[in-house]
Amino acid sequence: MIIAPSILSLDYTDFRNQLEVLNSKCDWIHFDVMDGHFVPNLSFGPDIFKAFRNNSDLYMDVHLMVTDPDYFSDVFIKAGADGVTFHVEAYENMIDSLKLVRKIRSRYVRAGISIKPGTSVDSIIPLLDEVDLVLVMSVEPGYGGQSFIEDTYDKIRQLKDYKHFHNLDYLIEVDGGINDKNAYSLFKYGADVLVAGSYVFNGDLAENIDNINFYE
Ligand code: DX5
Ligand code: ZN
Repeated sequence: MIIAPSILSLDYTDFRNQLEVLNSKCDWIHFDVMDGHFVPNLSFGPDIFKAFRNNSDLYMDVHLMVTDPDYFSDVFIKAGADGVTFHVEAYENMIDSLKLVRKIRSRYVRAGISIKPGTSVDSIIPLLDEVDLVLVMSVEPGYGGQSFIEDTYDKIRQLKDYKHFHNLDYLIEVDGGINDKNAYSLFKYGADVLVAGSYVFNGDLAENIDNINFYE
């Protein structure tokens, strides 16, 4: 499975060492972009992102929690994102989401769609045969360190069944409240990518990454 540490929880006073561990232990880095509008919190812009991009060959997984994902997808694709995921809730209709998915993919970047805990899998079905990834939020977006919402398991099962039934190949990514207590179940239910912030960066980073990484 793919572990994508969320650098929202990284200790910036120890940037070099922590990035070195990530470079040796992971394939992906998860980068939360918050605009203070779609979510109350603010996080990073493209300059901080480039500090990671310039010091790592890892897959840069950008999660846009912004009101204008069209604009910010451009900004982060230019800065070197490998994948850009935005929230279906940012748009009033599916056509706009579909247009942005197609635009991101036309730039040879993987496109993901994300749903908040209160949004159903059914509501994104029209997008599922066009996206590279579905990001299921297992906490309300905006902050690290919240508790995992148990309803998430049903969404993962639904996405996995839909994927197999329709012969699709999107990745199922789960984000929020992931730790050594729920990671194995998430893997068994069908998650392909686990995003983890506070659990992995609190204590021994390398060991914590191993504790939530499972293989068949
Ligand atoms: C929340 C972010 C998450 C967050 C996860 O809005 O999307 O990526 O950093 O942090 P933890 O693992 O602490 O819940
Ligand atoms: Zn995230």
